[in-house]
Amino acid sequence: MHKNKLTIAILLGMSSLALGCNDSAEQSKPTLKSQKAPDQLTLKAQFKDNFKIGTAISRDQILGALPEDLNVAKAQFNTFTPENSMKWERIHPELETYDFEAADALVEYAQENSQELVGHTLVWHSQTPDWVFEDDQGEPLTRDALLKRMQNHINTVAGRYKNRIFAWDVVNEALNEDGTLRESKWSTIIGDDFIEYAFKYAKQAAPNAKLYYNDYNLYKPEKRAGAIALIKNLQSKGIQIDGIGMQAHYSLDNPELSLMEDSIVAYAATGIDVMITELDISVLPFPEGEEQGADISLDIALQERFNPYPDGLPSEVNTQLGERYKAVFNILKKHDDKVSRVTFWGISDARTWRNDWPMQGRTDYPLLIDRELKLKSFVSDL
Ligand code: XIL
Repeated sequence: MHKNKLTIAILLGMSSLALGCNDSAEQSKPTLKSQKAPDQLTLKAQFKDNFKIGTAISRDQILGALPEDLNVAKAQFNTFTPENSMKWERIHPELETYDFEAADALVEYAQENSQELVGHTLVWHSQTPDWVFEDDQGEPLTRDALLKRMQNHINTVAGRYKNRIFAWDVVNEALNEDGTLRESKWSTIIGDDFIEYAFKYAKQAAPNAKLYYNDYNLYKPEKRAGAIALIKNLQSKGIQIDGIGMQAHYSLDNPELSLMEDSIVAYAATGIDVMITELDISVLPFPEGEEQGADISLDIALQERFNPYPDGLPSEVNTQLGERYKAVFNILKKHDDKVSRVTFWGISDARTWRNDWPMQGRTDYPLLIDRELKLKSFVSDL
């Protein structure tokens, strides 16, 4: 047996012992949600009639360095997205070098557990090495050469997992806040049609995978208009797009949830699936104007006043978080005919990227599972 497979097999064995988390425990639960103690609940059971419920999973988590995290992930979620392991800089760090270790392990894990895996992501301006856009002299590639490189990458990565990955985030974050196309090396060297090529290449490499466009701030009306234009452009050219992923890195005050709802309805009207792909709700204060979005290049210097809860979350703020989550899930459940999946960006507060973005070294509490790997008390009300 392959070493990773062995590790995962052992972890899976252990996971069935996890307290209150195994499938038989789920079946014996009382039907009224409000009667369940939080440690008897599972998220995937709670929302089983609404949508798939997922998490991002890190290299350490999937390779067995954090077995308790993996146990909880298996118990609570039924769809997974690699947090970083399939991004270009990780899976294809040099021209002739691919690193499939974590990605392979995750694909095997998902297959063995019949769980849906969403590949993230094939074409993005972030976490993509500079060499991708340069020739061996360090000069910018031509349009044709960059298209060829994109195609090779997609063939190698999406082709490797053909029929084993349920879906791909084909293109990530190609839009500006005003809905126009973002200027990136992809768009400057290839042109705006890089998106069309990415989807065509993905279809060729993995003909049975669902193909998605994924972005942040997709609740914003202007960005929404840009995303709808992007979807309709692909559709008008007969290029397959199956869904749109709304990242949903939110805070207690932002966004106004009616905008999120309007976007869900508008995207669904184009005939494709709508998914919430990276949900987390920060409870921390943000410097003016920085409370929205998910531009990963932001790195604001740490200041104490933006890190008010290093030793624990006051119960009134936890209550506020619960109310905010309830409002979000009320909308998602209302539109569960349109929303096929809700994925959280991380398993627990202990290891969420929100502790380090957009300011490194803070203590945030944005997820439904706390630092002790317990479901938060308000989950039963969602
Ligand atoms: C984040 C990861 O969580 C971090 O570990 C990494 O350092 C930066 O990227 N939008 C996306 C995700 O599509 O891939 C990003 O993930 C968060 C924003």
